[in-house]
Amino acid sequence: MCGGAGFIGSTFTRLRVREHGDEVTVLDKLTYAGRRENLTEVLDDVRFIHGAIEDPVAVADAVEHCDAIVNFAAETHVDRSIDDPEGFIVTNMPGALLEAARQRDLRYVQVSTDEVYGSIDEGTFTESSPLQPSSPYSATKTGGDLLVASYFHTYGLPTVICRGSNNYGPRQYPEKLIPLMILNALAGDRLPVYGDGRNVRNWLYVEDFARGIGHVLAHGVPGEAYNCGGPDECENLDVVHRVLELTGCDESLIEFVTDRPGHDRRYSLSSEKLEGLGWKARVRFEQGLEETVTWYRENTWWWEPIRSGAYRSYYERHYGRALKT
Ligand code: NAD
Ligand code: TYD
Repeated sequence: MCGGAGFIGSTFTRLRVREHGDEVTVLDKLTYAGRRENLTEVLDDVRFIHGAIEDPVAVADAVEHCDAIVNFAAETHVDRSIDDPEGFIVTNMPGALLEAARQRDLRYVQVSTDEVYGSIDEGTFTESSPLQPSSPYSATKTGGDLLVASYFHTYGLPTVICRGSNNYGPRQYPEKLIPLMILNALAGDRLPVYGDGRNVRNWLYVEDFARGIGHVLAHGVPGEAYNCGGPDECENLDVVHRVLELTGCDESLIEFVTDRPGHDRRYSLSSEKLEGLGWKARVRFEQGLEETVTWYRENTWWWEPIRSGAYRSYYERHYGRALKT
């Protein structure tokens, strides 16, 4: 598996080791978002290779004893893609990995995103909706999906794509909305809401996505894509208010800041096709958010090194304000 030291990949790895007894090889470049700590509980059961998805030698080594590939590796933050798209163009097109899969005719699952469809004001995206990405992040993820599909059409490689909606849960890097707001609230820092705060996201608990990807790995039909959407949609401002309640903080911490350029208004996924294969989201947003806040409260060891490290300078550069602690 590639990108297994990140937020979703490490959740998937834990689940496969614990619930399926899989032998997992993880190839990960350990960028700012990838951490060995994310795999602490299963490191003894995992073959870990520190290497890049774009490096054919590392990739060949990683897939040598595998019977399937699941690719999570990506540059994932929209704001960083707007500031500097280069790394997104390199990482999010999995050329070397697809070539390695082709050499051995391996089943291949591409982990993708609802953002490939772009924004939708009303209604919901199905797998046959047009791909209309708007940020460098979503455009490079779309490029990845199209390259993966071409390996099915051209070489008959058994590829499947699984597109998730916005994930949240333990071990998410605090550049993303929910952990950023939780940690800022706990530290008494301002909560920076972009634009009018009325953008809507379709929230999916990370374990539900990990199970959805496992479902696609086991039952997905080669050449097909499957949406994996959360059970609830919510405006950003409502998410922030709920975080304030759960952390016991005051609304005065909210600060409206300049909107993200090209900010997608709403994402919404129909998961009927994947539900037809027997998957269903288990965790409602209300419950998942409460558990997530509790996890961040109880696991300061996980986030303190991030918040006192390179993330501080990223935050200051991006938000034009320093974090308190
Ligand atoms: P993340 O940023 O937490 O982790 C990305 C992982 O990929 C890290 O471990 C990083 O070290 C690794 N990586 C980055 N560049 C690499 C490279 N060149 N070679 C090898 N490894 C590299 O991301 P995440 O939130 O866990 O997302 C995982 C996947 O799920 C991504 O493909 C993302 O597009 C997709 N996705 C994410 C969400 C979400 O809400 N987070 C929703 C839908 C889909
Ligand atoms: P994010 O977690 O970056 O995910 P994505 O943009 O991939 O959906 O952002 C989720 C929403 O929260 C999005 O509408 C942008 C908004 N947002 C803020 O209002 N403030 C912030 O500081 C961040 C990081 C995001």
